[in-house]
Amino acid sequence: MMCGLLECEICGIAMKVYLETLGCQMNRLDSELITGQLLGAGYEIVDAIDTADVFLINTCSVREQAENKVYSRLGREAISPRQRIIGVLGCMAQRCGAKLLRRYPCVDIICGPGQLHSLGEMIAQAAAGNKSVACDPDRKDGREAFERNSSIDSLDHDRDTKVGSSAQAYVRVMRGCDKFCTYCIVPFVRGPEISRSPEAICEEVKQLAGAGRSEITLIGQTVNSYRYTAGDMSTRLSDLLERLAVIDGVRRLRFVTSYPTDFGDDILKAMRDLPNVCRYIHCPPQSGSDRVLRAMNRKYTRAEYDNFVDRAYEIMPDVSLVGDFIVGFPGEEESDHQASAELIRRSRFKNSFIFKYSTREGTVGAKTLEDSIPFEVKRQRNNELLAVQAEVSLAHFQSFIGREVELLVEGPSPLSGKPGNVSDDPNCVQMLGRTTGDHITVFQGPESLAGQYVKARVTSTTAFTLFADLVD
Ligand code: 5AD
Ligand code: SF4
Repeated sequence: MMCGLLECEICGIAMKVYLETLGCQMNRLDSELITGQLLGAGYEIVDAIDTADVFLINTCSVREQAENKVYSRLGREAISPRQRIIGVLGCMAQRCGAKLLRRYPCVDIICGPGQLHSLGEMIAQAAAGNKSVACDPDRKDGREAFERNSSIDSLDHDRDTKVGSSAQAYVRVMRGCDKFCTYCIVPFVRGPEISRSPEAICEEVKQLAGAGRSEITLIGQTVNSYRYTAGDMSTRLSDLLERLAVIDGVRRLRFVTSYPTDFGDDILKAMRDLPNVCRYIHCPPQSGSDRVLRAMNRKYTRAEYDNFVDRAYEIMPDVSLVGDFIVGFPGEEESDHQASAELIRRSRFKNSFIFKYSTREGTVGAKTLEDSIPFEVKRQRNNELLAVQAEVSLAHFQSFIGREVELLVEGPSPLSGKPGNVSDDPNCVQMLGRTTGDHITVFQGPESLAGQYVKARVTSTTAFTLFADLVD
């Protein structure tokens, strides 16, 4: 292992950090902010673990599978002949705390999501041979404890706008969650719902847009519950969208993830009226059955979800809706499952993310509900919903054939250059871009288009990908 703080005192080379990110957009943003912080402090960020002096893993606790992945990575590090500093960050650090140090003596750093500003100091401590644990307050300690001892946005303020992909950027508008769905660990690991001030958000977006980050995605666990109150002035998500949409250089503005009951017409109308707000809504129903929704402590009925969908299509007929579903929730019967399938059809989702229920220790569900559905049934229901969604997606994607779309180009597609995807034109490869509705679209074009906006006409489609030709 290297011997100094940021660099080896003997050879003077900066310590190399390898950062792996699991989980949601919030983690991807946190990792981008950490990267900027560590680069600014003189660390080098490397993209392979082999040469790294420090291995940081930004973790997710939402599903059992995500945690198992971390255990297996730590297990591998425990027997690795290469000794390095190991830090566990994010939700699992918060959920497991110092217990992880006892289970994996190779771990040096445990850093909860609201403590990431201390990470540089923690790495320096680890280099000096000291382990450290920094977690957020316990949810039971109340909101003030979070406001005092856990920083929602200290890293966001000092953000290095050049770190990250060229055109796309996440911006945190709120964090935490007060909904307490019975299956979900988020309210316990990410703490109470706290919104950032609109001034701080606008300033950050101005900086990002000024640096060429033209597609801004606002993120929060229940982003449409955003509300910031100062004196008698209250700012809602729709107000925030209006303020951000007029910032120079903001070409696309989107927000994820939404909660159904908080989706007022004010947001739908702001989306309709502001041309750079993407017509894309990720608003998970989780189930199509009232009985299951009640057991999940989702605070709406099936009829209320249907009403949200109807309002969304009425105000924006071309909106792309995206859902999440949990299959095999405790007590879910075949009729409940069919209600979910029917909801996918009725809502005409562009796509859905479908998850098999897993008990999360620490949630209300873990204490009160028995994980009663056999794995095989969960697997089968998962496949059935995927199949229904694929049919619905295909119809949705087919409606684009012949239409001209605007794409933000990400770069060459993963299949570029593979058999069947070699271009006749030596200057072109298969490129991948996304529409404002987040449809993955591939076309033949030069690599130099990466990070730019282009117009393309859709020629054919599958249930997941549009194929298009560039329009001059
Ligand atoms: N089991 C399975 N899926 C879950 N999700 C959240 N908690 C669980 C759990 N315990 C899913 C929900 C949520 C998405 C991020 O993860 O569908 O919307
Ligand atoms: Fe979890 Fe429910 Fe909050 Fe979403 S709304 S983060 S599912 S508790």
